[in-house]
Amino acid sequence: MPPLLDIRDLRIRFGATEAVRGVSLHLDEGEVLGLVGESGSGKSATALAIPGLLGPSALASGQILWQNSGDNASIDLLRQPPNALRQLRGRQIAMIFQEPMTALNPVMSIGRQVAECAAAHAPSWTGREAKRRAITALEAVAIPEAASRYGDYPHQFSGGQRQRILIAMALINRPRLLIADEPTTALDVTVQAQILDLLAQLQREHGLAMLFISHDLAVVGQVASRVAVMRSGLVVETGPSARLLTAPEHPYTRSLLAAVPTLRTQRDQPLAVVV
Ligand SMILES: Nc1ncnc2c1ncn2[C@@H]1O[C@H](COP(=O)(O)OP(=O)(O)OP(=O)(O)O)[C@@H](O)[C@H]1O
Ligand SMILES: [Mg+2]
Repeated sequence: MPPLLDIRDLRIRFGATEAVRGVSLHLDEGEVLGLVGESGSGKSATALAIPGLLGPSALASGQILWQNSGDNASIDLLRQPPNALRQLRGRQIAMIFQEPMTALNPVMSIGRQVAECAAAHAPSWTGREAKRRAITALEAVAIPEAASRYGDYPHQFSGGQRQRILIAMALINRPRLLIADEPTTALDVTVQAQILDLLAQLQREHGLAMLFISHDLAVVGQVASRVAVMRSGLVVETGPSARLLTAPEHPYTRSLLAAVPTLRTQRDQPLAVVV
């Protein structure tokens, strides 16, 4: 079986900046791949290229092969017309980002946002049906009293709840791939753990493939079975997360691991310097 997603020699340039310099990655159906690396290493650029969200200032080359669900043939996402990519984004590939407040419309109730998201891809649903689905989706991500909070606005929810709402919106159309770009970075540690648990649970329930991005190797290791480490636009190491977390081969991966504070970290010492 060919992989669900097969990125081959992806290169992305923004003007003179070569953000991604030949990245190859694959993701099987239902698999969770972690993508880790320091700020500016090209993680988001790689992720945004998949659903065609890089924007007009980017120049991308290589191939992003996707197993299309309709006809089971592979298509190259770098060479699809905008309309085809838009369809794919709503139905097969969903994305969640770091900042849950900016991704929501501040002047529309969350219920309506979730319902519109559902209805956009199932135009035959009545308003009532879309509302019922939205409430079910909010309940599935553990928004308390979802039905009575349907008319509330984004600012009336906590940061963790807002991220749950975005997860509900991302999954309501049952995508095959969820791209999660630093979905817990803006949250405090306890809420971060709850969101990671929720993502892991939904991933299992839906048999969803997930590309999980973080600059934190320990966080990635909690959800991903396999991890790719990026540095300066290149993948420097790929492997099962258990091995990467215990026996990293590349010096850069080792330094990323050393930079993760543990209970035994001497807090008065500087963190390991990345080489
Ligand atoms: N729209 C853009 N225009 C110009 N340069 C960009 C743009 N997006 C990204 N870059 C540049 O591309 C490089 C990679 O950026 P990218 O956002 O992929 O990094 P990242 O690994 O996601 O970092 P972070 O952990 O901070 O999110 C950086 O040098 C960045 O400045
Ligand atoms: Mg990023």
